[in-house]
Amino acid sequence: MYVRSLRIENLRAFGKAKLDLLYPQRHLDKAFNDVRPWPPRLPNVNVILGANGAGKSTILDATALALLSPLIASSGYRPFALIRRSNRGEVKRATILADLVLQDQDGAIGPVPGKEVRAELETVIDRRGDVEFVRTTEQPGPIWERMYDDNSTAFFFVGYGATRRVEAVSASDLAVRRKSRLLKYERVASLFEDHFALVPLNAWLPEWRTQNPGGYRQVISLIDSLTPSTIRFSGEIEQGEYLFKHRNVSVPFSALSDGYRAYIGWVGDLLHHLCMGAPRGAKLVESRGVVMVDEIDLHIHPDWQRTIIPKLARKLKNLQFIFTTHSPLVVGTLERANILTVDHGRNGAPVISRPDEETFGLSADQVLRSKAFGLTSTRDPEFSENLNRLSQAAQRGSKGAALQFMREAAIGGAARVDAPNDGTPDPPDWMRQIASKV
Ligand SMILES: Nc1ncnc2c1ncn2[C@@H]1O[C@H](COP(=O)(O)OP(=O)(O)OP(=O)(O)O)[C@@H](O)[C@H]1O
Ligand SMILES: [Mg+2]
Repeated sequence: MYVRSLRIENLRAFGKAKLDLLYPQRHLDKAFNDVRPWPPRLPNVNVILGANGAGKSTILDATALALLSPLIASSGYRPFALIRRSNRGEVKRATILADLVLQDQDGAIGPVPGKEVRAELETVIDRRGDVEFVRTTEQPGPIWERMYDDNSTAFFFVGYGATRRVEAVSASDLAVRRKSRLLKYERVASLFEDHFALVPLNAWLPEWRTQNPGGYRQVISLIDSLTPSTIRFSGEIEQGEYLFKHRNVSVPFSALSDGYRAYIGWVGDLLHHLCMGAPRGAKLVESRGVVMVDEIDLHIHPDWQRTIIPKLARKLKNLQFIFTTHSPLVVGTLERANILTVDHGRNGAPVISRPDEETFGLSADQVLRSKAFGLTSTRDPEFSENLNRLSQAAQRGSKGAALQFMREAAIGGAARVDAPNDGTPDPPDWMRQIASKV
């Protein structure tokens, strides 16, 4: 299953919004008619950008709610403050309409081979008094039956909230958790519950090794190839914990740094759900479904941010990814087709659009000053203001101000320490020439 589009009405900050998403093998249609070349370089990646409080996490929640809605009554999910609060009168209903693409894995057989099988799921949230109720308007039918089967490969979707964490969870803890929550809800619970503990590798991988040695080898190789080259994973265990070789020293998972634990934590959890939910006999990487990760750049060093999404998208090329990020380095690895920005509209409700300029290959500074982030400068505001003053003085004819402007623009605050005529080298000729013309 993939999500083709989502219409949101009156959910949290949103009034009315629609978003079209990329997924593997999506045909070029009017939702993407201004996108060239087609298909995009990473055809399975969608990244949502926007200021704090813009509505990025709400879009992930809306997607998860839409997909969960047939099961919501028994899932373990408690709706709260989902319906839009507005100072223009009480809103009593929110809706989410998801247009889905289904595959064999979901039990969908198309009338024409190669033709997409589409289905819609409408989710309605009503308020009665102080309580909100979520339901689907979908009538039970053969296509949705597999949704109710925890062991089925159908409707695979997982989501990771920004407060996700990995900690010791034993196999017996997992069994208890399974009794209070449906598996499909558990796969997205960290989007809705703060500090939800994900499934650590040692709670399931040793057993999986005995049950499915081929699948186990795929997991080891995937973890190893999805982590940066400074970390190696071979499946070695010591006192019940998996060892990771970090710069040639073997360290147990719990002793790894926050960044590695956070990343390996959600990737390990995703592989757990993929192993349990993948069609028998198929390779893990062939599995289809939706993976949402809030703040993909969480704890991740800039060097790694430059490769994280292309690596995930290419290794797991049949999964549809929906990420959010605040990282310009991540955005520089994406084409505009991959990006959705959430901005404040005129009535205060968020508006979703695609950047109209290309983002792939831009430097972090260029990305931050493009419409994707909309910053006028990436410098310290006080420093920027001083640069403006220097430039205005230069325009009025001060050659000294022009020179100082260029020094500060080139090397920042160091130009104040290395003031001219204090033994530091003179400005280069090209600078003198420009300054003499200002
Ligand atoms: N019921 C509601 N009615 C109106 N607005 C709401 C309601 N619930 C939450 N909000 C607003 O919706 C926004 C939620 O945004 P969301 O959490 O999706 O932001 P975000 O883009 O993920 O931000 P961040 O980058 O900080 O995580 C907030 O600005 C919040 O004030
Ligand atoms: Mg958020």
